[in-house]
Amino acid sequence: MRRKLVAGNWKMHGSLAENEALLSGILAGMGSVTADVAVCVPFPYLAQVQAKLTGSAIAWGAQNLSQQAKGAFTGEVSANMLKDFACAYVIVGHSERRAIYGESDELVAEKYAAAQAAGLTPILCVGETLNEREGCITEAVVARQMDAVIAKCGVSSLARAVVAYEPVWAIGTGVTATPDQAQAVHAFIRAKVRELDAVVAEGLVIQYGGSMKAGNAVELLGQPDIDGGLIGGAALNAEEFLAICRAG
Ligand code: 13P
Repeated sequence: MRRKLVAGNWKMHGSLAENEALLSGILAGMGSVTADVAVCVPFPYLAQVQAKLTGSAIAWGAQNLSQQAKGAFTGEVSANMLKDFACAYVIVGHSERRAIYGESDELVAEKYAAAQAAGLTPILCVGETLNEREGCITEAVVARQMDAVIAKCGVSSLARAVVAYEPVWAIGTGVTATPDQAQAVHAFIRAKVRELDAVVAEGLVIQYGGSMKAGNAVELLGQPDIDGGLIGGAALNAEEFLAICRAG
């Protein structure tokens, strides 16, 4: 039986004071949560989050990393640096990084490999744009994004990863994929992995992301192949985030 994983992606939000209030609020409500919970925070706040969450039921991680292990890469952050702050997770291939920072499928696969080499669990984001959905190539796009990682690291690597299906048109727009739309792509991803390794496929946690909030979480998380959520805007409000966690 797969456990649900609800993870907050804070993106470029927060401050020391805001984070303190947000984390205190989430911690106060965790008693009623049975899902696994994590927060993926901006790099400068990892020390704060580590100090606040060590010993709690909430794991933490980052939103990006370098594909390089170390060296003259100004401005970059390595997987081992994230391990220094006891990160469990790191998001790779978020659509904002693919679209705004030009990250290719191959670069995302390299980052995924770097994360796993350091013992971090990558949260691999995949998903189609509105144009791609309207062009009926959603499955082809998601398959291509998955294949880049499988080609580099093998299907067995997915036993140590999380996949997040995030339709780009649903991110930050208030437009959520319907439970049926999301379930169809989740089932496609699992079937694709199953063709290569049935055991890995059954154990693979596939999160949904894209305008998930308290009001739609129960229905989305009730779908057979939706194993959690990757939450943007709603993760910045303790009560809203906790409501999603309780739905998981
Ligand atoms: P929103 O929940 O704000 O739509 O963002 C989703 C997302 O991009 C999570 O990674």
